[in-house]
Amino acid sequence: MSSSECAIRQFDIVGDSVLRPDAPSKLTGQARYVNDLSFPGMLHAAVTRSTMAKAKIKRIDTSRAKAMPGVHAVLTWEDVPSDNCIPLVSCDLPLLAKDQVDYYGEGIALVAAETVEQAQAAARAVVVEYEELSPVLTIEEGFAQEWFLTQFHLDEDGVDEEFANPDNLITEDTYITGYQEHAYLETNGALVMPDNYGGYIAFSSMQCPFYVQKGVAHILSVDYQKVRAVQTVTGGGFGGKEDAPSTPACMAAVLCYHTQRPVKLILSREEDFDSMSKRHPSKVVFKSAVDRKTGLIKAVDVLHLINCGAYLTLSSIVMWRGFLHAVGPYKVPCARVHSYGVGTNTVPNGAFRGFGQPQVCFVDETHWNQVAEKLRIDPLEFRRRNMLHVGDTTVNGQYLEESVGLEQILDKVEAEIEYDKWKDRPQDTGRYRQGVGISLAYYGVSLGANGGALNNGSCNVVIAADGSVVIGVGTVEMGQGMITVLSQIAAETLKCPLDRINFISAETGMVPEGGPTVASRTTMITGRAVVEACANLRRRLDEFQGERCLEWNELVRACWVAGVQLSEAGWVVAPKCHFDAKTGKGSSYPVYTWCANAAKVTVDTYTGEVHLDKFVSGNEVGKVINPSLCEGQAQGGALQGIGYTLYEDMQIRNGRILNNNLSTYIIPTAMDVPDIVPVFAEEPYSWGPYGAKGFGETPMVPAAPAISQAVYKAIGVRFTELPLTPEKVWKALHTGENHG
Ligand code: MTE
Ligand code: MOS
Repeated sequence: MSSSECAIRQFDIVGDSVLRPDAPSKLTGQARYVNDLSFPGMLHAAVTRSTMAKAKIKRIDTSRAKAMPGVHAVLTWEDVPSDNCIPLVSCDLPLLAKDQVDYYGEGIALVAAETVEQAQAAARAVVVEYEELSPVLTIEEGFAQEWFLTQFHLDEDGVDEEFANPDNLITEDTYITGYQEHAYLETNGALVMPDNYGGYIAFSSMQCPFYVQKGVAHILSVDYQKVRAVQTVTGGGFGGKEDAPSTPACMAAVLCYHTQRPVKLILSREEDFDSMSKRHPSKVVFKSAVDRKTGLIKAVDVLHLINCGAYLTLSSIVMWRGFLHAVGPYKVPCARVHSYGVGTNTVPNGAFRGFGQPQVCFVDETHWNQVAEKLRIDPLEFRRRNMLHVGDTTVNGQYLEESVGLEQILDKVEAEIEYDKWKDRPQDTGRYRQGVGISLAYYGVSLGANGGALNNGSCNVVIAADGSVVIGVGTVEMGQGMITVLSQIAAETLKCPLDRINFISAETGMVPEGGPTVASRTTMITGRAVVEACANLRRRLDEFQGERCLEWNELVRACWVAGVQLSEAGWVVAPKCHFDAKTGKGSSYPVYTWCANAAKVTVDTYTGEVHLDKFVSGNEVGKVINPSLCEGQAQGGALQGIGYTLYEDMQIRNGRILNNNLSTYIIPTAMDVPDIVPVFAEEPYSWGPYGAKGFGETPMVPAAPAISQAVYKAIGVRFTELPLTPEKVWKALHTGENHG
């Protein structure tokens, strides 16, 4: 028996629902979140925040606050040892307002004191004198004033000709989507302390250690490697801990710099609502030309607006993804898509699961349902005629070479919801009315062409003499299951027992910059780095053992004694992508994940409530590394999509969020979880580890249009605006209004 056969005999870990190693500490409450950390001499921080959407700051008076008991520092922009801005896509977000505030909740002054209560009292005692200015509050106002923070355009020839062609059906509508709050269990927070070598350690609940490292280094004007960003157990991110954590970390860092003490800043739920990122509200005007005879899409013309809030932060990246996915997973021979990121005097919006896609997916899928109806074609049949396959080209000009499983996943979802029984069913007439809707989506995995070096991946694998392994990566576990999945990939590749693999929480000092934990890129890209490091190690072990067949521990021990190198760094550069901003075209992503969702609803016409009887989340992911974790992602993502569609309704007046806590901002609870059935298909991606693509965000993307189509089939009202709260549904039923 050759040595590789001897090892393979024992292992088949990829594809198995192994348990997550982080579960026991989270279940028992032993996991230590950032707010559980404490160091001798530690101070607590609080922030004085803007109470205006837009105003000139005439005077900031910190004298009273400084004299209060327990207070060690009260700081303003003047005390920031740099240019006072947080580096994200560009360096536009001020850490502390200087002579003007641009949104409600913007930070103005920082306090460090011995207790949380003392810090908060002093923060309230800072006097800010304002001269109120007239704010830009809506997407319409910002658009009219041409306050554009970012824009992308695709403008192909032939669009107008298609719209003028009498053979084509022309359909146009306007669609509106609202805010969504991440509602992670743990609010944003950070603890920064001096290390023993003239640098700083920043503990943070975060997705992107390298962003926090850069942010703190920049704000303190020190070298990147003078800052060690260490991830603490993170109680949910969902994109809300991508760009946002840099702000609290930089705030704690400036206080630490001045006091040379450990400083901890934990945001209250209300502060977190007011000042941290959210899903961008959007307004989209979508027009299409479709051949009346064949039902084939000929052209689209889309005006796509998102509300960025007062600063760019990550909006260009979020909008770029929306721009590229704006027409859905269909063959569209010619298109015009104009995307504008509109500025308003509201809290800056940022990353949120799906990254700009749930908005456009609601739009395109609702639109295609309207078109199919006018053509008297079943909406599924319309999709089958137009959807993408291997060998097709996306609207932005990407040729699809491999791993396109849209049809496979649609077939499975269609069967699971028993679509045949529902498609031609006459509308119900009683109090309770049922309907079924299906939606499709695709998701460009990873940051793609816009990510540059951020899209690389790294890891460090070290085997100890006893055969135990420790892996460090720059990406994080935030509940999505990274540690479990990467452990499976490592064990499979090393051909060692799974229980030999250990992980250390992500920190910047351990590995080369391996990019952020976003864009569902971790399994695919960090996973590939782990495969490469482990494959190199395994090769070395195999060379050493030759024709022998040693058991893992024995083999490692023998290698160690013989001086074989038992550590390896993994480094991958993501597959090359390109995008030309002049034409709006390119091969923007390495690969896509493909999705189909189905919803079966019952609408109570007396109350306007929409009850989900069944929800099917179908995803074609290349390879399911861990079935139960994938099911968890599908169910959690779908539920977040259900909240976005039916419940979450952020009320904002004069730039101020009125329902800024979880008693008034309604998200689904355990009581609202419907029967969510996860369905998977696998079309392996040749570059991905064991064929895997990314999938953490995709279950969120197509939920809304499936549900709203089901509601349409049930009650005959088509909503072009999210969310579909009971009030809106009731009003539409009883007054015929369907725009809220
Ligand atoms: N699942 C849990 N439990 N908690 C999270 O914060 N974040 C989502 C998704 N699933 C999230 C989650 C988001 S926004 C992303 S980008 C992906 O996980 C990131 O993880 P991945 O790259 O490992 O797929
Ligand atoms: Mo996810 S929105 O890419 O953090």
